[in-house]
Amino acid sequence: MNIPLWFSVTAVLVAAACSSGGGEERPPQDTAPPDRDIHTFARPWEARVTHVALDLTADFMSKTLAGKASLTLSRSASAHEIVLDTKGLTIAGVVAQDGRTLKHTLGPADAILGQALTVELPSGVTDITVSYRTAPDAAALQWLAPSQTAGKAHPYLYSQGEAILTRSWIPTQDSPGIRQTYSARITVPRELTAVMSAEQLTPAGVESAAGRSFDFKLTQAIPPYLIALAVGDLQFRSLGPRTGVYAEPSVVDGAAKEFADLESMVTAAESLLGPYRWGRYDVLVLPPSFPFGGMENPRLTFATPTVLAGDKSLVTLLAHELAHSWSGNLVTNATWSDFWLNEGWTTYVERRIMETVYGRPRADVFRVLGWRDLADEITRLGGMQSKDTVLHVDLKGRDPDDGSTQIPYEKGAALLSLVESTVGRDKFDAYLKGYLERFAFKSITTAMFLSDIRSHLLNGDQALEAKLRLDDWIYQPAVPDNAVVPQAEQLKAAGEQARAFARGVSATALRTRDWNTQEWLYFLSELPATLPVDRLTSLDQTFHLTERLNSEVLFAWLRIAVRHHYQPAMPALERFLISQGRRKFVRPLFQDLMDSDWGKADAKRIYAIARPLYHSVTTQTLDAIVK
Ligand code: BES
Ligand code: ZN
Repeated sequence: MNIPLWFSVTAVLVAAACSSGGGEERPPQDTAPPDRDIHTFARPWEARVTHVALDLTADFMSKTLAGKASLTLSRSASAHEIVLDTKGLTIAGVVAQDGRTLKHTLGPADAILGQALTVELPSGVTDITVSYRTAPDAAALQWLAPSQTAGKAHPYLYSQGEAILTRSWIPTQDSPGIRQTYSARITVPRELTAVMSAEQLTPAGVESAAGRSFDFKLTQAIPPYLIALAVGDLQFRSLGPRTGVYAEPSVVDGAAKEFADLESMVTAAESLLGPYRWGRYDVLVLPPSFPFGGMENPRLTFATPTVLAGDKSLVTLLAHELAHSWSGNLVTNATWSDFWLNEGWTTYVERRIMETVYGRPRADVFRVLGWRDLADEITRLGGMQSKDTVLHVDLKGRDPDDGSTQIPYEKGAALLSLVESTVGRDKFDAYLKGYLERFAFKSITTAMFLSDIRSHLLNGDQALEAKLRLDDWIYQPAVPDNAVVPQAEQLKAAGEQARAFARGVSATALRTRDWNTQEWLYFLSELPATLPVDRLTSLDQTFHLTERLNSEVLFAWLRIAVRHHYQPAMPALERFLISQGRRKFVRPLFQDLMDSDWGKADAKRIYAIARPLYHSVTTQTLDAIVK
């Protein structure tokens, strides 16, 4: 049998499961309210961090990172203290650049925000060093046992910062509006390699008494959610002059094959967006518990192994994370209510990159599937009137992660597609390049975007303004009726076959030869909401859907199977849930089980096995669902 790489990696996790149980606009960081980030304790208009220098040692026994964070500050004349964000950190002490001890206090713990760390700043102090260690259950970090990796021989550690998790491993001002450069020395057990979202200064590491140390630096100022670290038994394969892939030894060659088009994606992105400003673009394939499809850490995208389908069919994920090198990392949402600026632009650009590399017909396929996702998400959120369908989302009293839906992605992309088709592609592309230049290395709010597009694209054209209805799109629920509905010729046949099957045509008579992943996904999404079980059985027996190894197709099929309580797929469902921890896959499946009148006990039993394998991002979501 032809087992894809992600599955052979995840099989390991199963084993682990069993054994372990505009010009005058001021960026918000320089101003007090109204655009203040409500998810930070920092008061950057008084004193702000401009550079973070880490010196940390990873201890896999105690599951802690311990050492120092030296922070370079920029302070107003009147400032006499600086406020940092922390979560679960144990602070041993704080000293100034001259070595003198500085008074510090940890504020009360807030369940969402963590604790403010306030440090006194006598006059003249511009550098402070915090000695600290992380908690073993630090929200950003996942410490994996050897059994949870592909190679089984070595442990693994990785971090996930977005949205507000960096404070659980670095005491800094953890707001996307407070950009910082960083450098790091990371000491790890001798046989392991450390990689970061930064330039590697010592790729092979340097031996020391404590193990092996790796030095990094990033000279571009970034929001702290993009500081990222991974430690494991890693190998590298070059894919092009400035692209490559890191993964465990048994995964790296398959990953290199899967990602063979990476360099041409970077070139395509540059033609659309202007020069790539970060030097290298590498991808790290993580163990299967990684909670996201991908994370756009600068210079080093982190990716789930479930993207390794064996046929490049899921590489749109790379186009997405690469696009963030402009929309997200170069121009960043200033607060988490502006998250749609990151993800909406990126989803729009992702499909433009796909169009350049693979052609318009293929890109249109992704546009149609995205539109379908948007419709499904609106239904899930309670319909068009739901406040959760607003692009500029209200997060008062909420964890930004709670607002994580398809809305910022797909409604955001739909808005930008509308603008593109209304003003024409040439004008829109010129605007896009200008927008990225004007706000390069800045963090911006939705209001700043609106003012920019009005002065650089709409130019006071009232008819155009009325046609677009930007404020409705951004501040009101629902999708306005001026949206452009995408069409894809390549999906027509799959849609017809789904309707034929619904009319009673037998599975064996369907014409599915040579269908690719996306045609299967579309076919499955077009099936009637309910089917008699014998019809499902014949579909499965004809097309072997329960045995599919492509993670997206298997996921789509398993959702249908759960909806129908289709018994033959239940062992595969359980395997899927305990072999990977990508939240996009496991959340809907557990939710469907909990919503059914038969699956609650199964959900609880499976979750008890799976929970220790998942990252905190995933368990935090699932704990609320599987009660
Ligand atoms: N930046 C996101 C991941 C993220 C979002 C982390 C919110 C934390 C909070 C990343 O770029 C992303 O959108 N990933 C998608 C990939 C997909 C849209 C191709 C994912 O993980 O599913
Ligand atoms: Zn994204």
